[in-house]
This record gives sequence, C-alpha cells and structure tokens, in this order.
Amino acid sequence: MKVLVTGGAGFIGSNFVHRTLATRPDAEVTVLDLLTYAGSLSSLEGVRDRVRFVEGDVADAEVVDPLVADADVVVHFAAESHNDNSLADPSPFIRTNIVGTFTLLEAARTHDVRYHHVSTDEVYGDLELDDPKRFTEDTPYTPSSPYSASKAGSDHLVRAWVRSFGLRATISNCSNNYGPRQHVEKFIPRQITNLIDGVRPKLYGDGLNVRDWIHVDDHNDAVWTIVEKGRPGETYLIGADGEVNNRDVVRLVLELMGRDPDDYDHVTDRAGHDRRYAIEAGKLRQELGWAPRYDTFRDGLAATVEWYRENEAWWRPQKDATEAKYARTQKVLGR
Ligand code: NAD
Ligand code: DAU
Repeated sequence: MKVLVTGGAGFIGSNFVHRTLATRPDAEVTVLDLLTYAGSLSSLEGVRDRVRFVEGDVADAEVVDPLVADADVVVHFAAESHNDNSLADPSPFIRTNIVGTFTLLEAARTHDVRYHHVSTDEVYGDLELDDPKRFTEDTPYTPSSPYSASKAGSDHLVRAWVRSFGLRATISNCSNNYGPRQHVEKFIPRQITNLIDGVRPKLYGDGLNVRDWIHVDDHNDAVWTIVEKGRPGETYLIGADGEVNNRDVVRLVLELMGRDPDDYDHVTDRAGHDRRYAIEAGKLRQELGWAPRYDTFRDGLAATVEWYRENEAWWRPQKDATEAKYARTQKVLGR
C-alpha cells in the first residue's frame, strides 16, 4: 500500500511512520512536510532511507496534487498544533489547518483516493470537572481557541466533501498524546526538559484542568485500525480512559525524576483555557476492535521521561532554536 503521510516529521506523524514501517514492512511511505519549527528530519532517523521525503506545503496544490494522485491512502497529520501559539498569532493556523485540508481534499476527490483526517477532541470544547458525560461522536462542536476552531473548520470540510462529492474519507478525533519526539513547547516535554535544565515546572492557572492522556503509539494503532476497517464517511473518537489533572501530571513527572513532588510554580492561566477533555471511545473499541496497549499512564510516562533523558541530542537543538519564540509567546500571553 502506498501511504502519503502529511506532517510526518512532526510528533505524531513521525511516530506513525516509525510504527507503520515496523508493523507493515511492505508499506511504501511518502512524507510531505514543510519542516516548520515543529518538524525535523531527525524525527525520522532510523527510517529515513525507507521513506520518500518531500519538503512542501499542504496548502500548495501543485505540490499536493501529484503526491495524492500517486497514493492509495492519505493520512493527514500536518497542522499548526499548539494552542498557545494560536493565541499569540492565529494566521498560520488558518492557512495550514483549513486551506491545507481543503487542498488535500480537492486532490483526493480529483483522483478518488482514500483519505483519513487526523483531528482533535478539542473541537468539542470542554467539560466541567464534575460532568458525568464524556465526549462522543454526537457531541456538538464548540471549539474555544483559534487552533481548535481551525481544526473544527477542517473537520466540517471533510464531512462536506464526503456528502457532496462521495469522498472516501474518515475522521478521528483524539485526546492528548504523549510519548517520544513531542516538541518541547508541549506540556510534558516542557516540564521534563526544564527539569533536566534545573527549571521548576510551571502550571497554568490552578493546575486542575484535566486532559485525557493516550500514548502516541496507541493513537497511531487506532488510526491504522480506522484506515483498514473504518466505514467511509464515519468519525471515530480515540481515547484511552487517561484522565489526569495537570497538577498530578507535574507531581508524577517530578517523582519519576527523583524530585520533590511539590516543587512547581503556578503562572498566569491560558486565555479561554479548556477545563476538561474526556473521550468515550466505545464506537472504536466495539465496532473496530481497537484497544490501547499501554496499561497505565504512569508506565508510559516513565518510558517517556527515559526517552528524553536518553535523547538530548534530539531535543536540545530544537529547544535552543525555539526558545526565543517560546519566550515571546509567553510574554504576549502575560507570563
Ligand atoms: P506537530 O506540531 O508536532 O507536527 C506538525 C507537523 O506538521 C510538523 O512536522 C510540521 O513541520 C508540519 N507542518 C506544519 N505546517 C505544514 C504545512 N503547511 N505543510 C506541510 N507540513 C506542515 O503536531 P502533532 O502534535 O504531531 O499533531 C499532528 C496532528 O494530530 C495535528 O493535526 C493535530 O491537530 C492532531 N492531534 C494532536 C494531538 C496531540 O496531543 N498532539 C491530539 C489529537 C490530535
Ligand atoms: O486534546 C488534544 C490536543 O492536545 C491537541 O489537539 C493539541 O494539538 C495538543 O497540543 C494538546 O492541546 P493542549 O492545549 O491540551 O496541550 P498542551 O501540551 O499545550 O497543554 C496541556 C495542558 O497543560 C493544558 O491544560 C495547558 C497546561 N500547561 C501547558 C504548558 C505548555 C501548563 O500548565 N503548563 C505548561 O507549561
């Protein structure tokens, strides 16, 4: 099978490429990635010679069209993905997440290619801490940030292309991923790499916001399950029953790194900060037979801490290169 992976030099996309080549040795993988600040060829180390890599923009139809024409399936990960950045400057989010998706959809419809759209649970807005409900495929869309609104817009485009043009497309909306090769701007790598550098963890607001953590390999196995067994036109939520509040994540990271679990600071909250995400993944589990392999968040997090300890050569250049951008964003956001 010829697979076009957009965003394959980013966190989830690169893990998808590694996992695909490990589990489906016959797959022919092409990666299309713009190599923004968030993408790096170093994330494809070890599989680089088994992958065709194209540096280019998903919003550029001239680049996209022939690559889609040559694929059996497109798995679309490429995106601007960080909420804080979308608060400081929304414009690249609109171009990449909306225009980029539109461009891929047009190519997939022209060449009648199977398309899988990787999206987020953030399109459903947030839940109260004591709400007994979780997100399902029927929850109405109420995105809070420019990032999540741009992803919601892209999901709506996919559904319109299915209904109006009969595109063979599926959508998945997943909760927060963790694991190797995640950019240091994100919560868990930020705390681990800061602690290695002797900097105390920073919790936004009261730290009681809840995220529903899933290991990136479990997410990517679910994506393959949907590509292979999902019904065209359907949406599947992906989650691993991993609800933990941010304070407890930080305390666990501190403990796993041999520090005092109370050794963290509170800082100015994120504007519009979603309180809680929680996924009910029954449709994916029951219809398609998927189940996560990582039993506990603690085990997955311990392995992730180890990965960052052992792979400073991967994250240090990225951290050095993006520290000025990070500091500017934090300043704009009042921290
Ligand atoms: P990431 O920011 O780590 O990687 C994004 C990749 O896309 C980078 O390699 C970047 O260079 C590339 N890219 C950006 N703009 C591009 C463009 N215009 N053309 C081509 N390539 C471009 O993101 P991630 O965390 O790996 O997220 C991947 C996808 O999964 C996104 O669509 C995101 O919305 C979704 N998602 C992420 C999470 C999560 O927890 N990280 C959870 C659910 C869904
Ligand atoms: O739910 C899926 C989404 O998860 C994906 O769609 C996004 O691409 C991905 O970035 C992630 O979004 P979040 O905003 O939840 O992730 P982030 O890592 O930015 O933050 C996780 C939580 O931690 C959030 O409540 C904010 C908080 N936080 C974050 C940072 C960077 C802190 O308290 N301190 C920090 O330094």
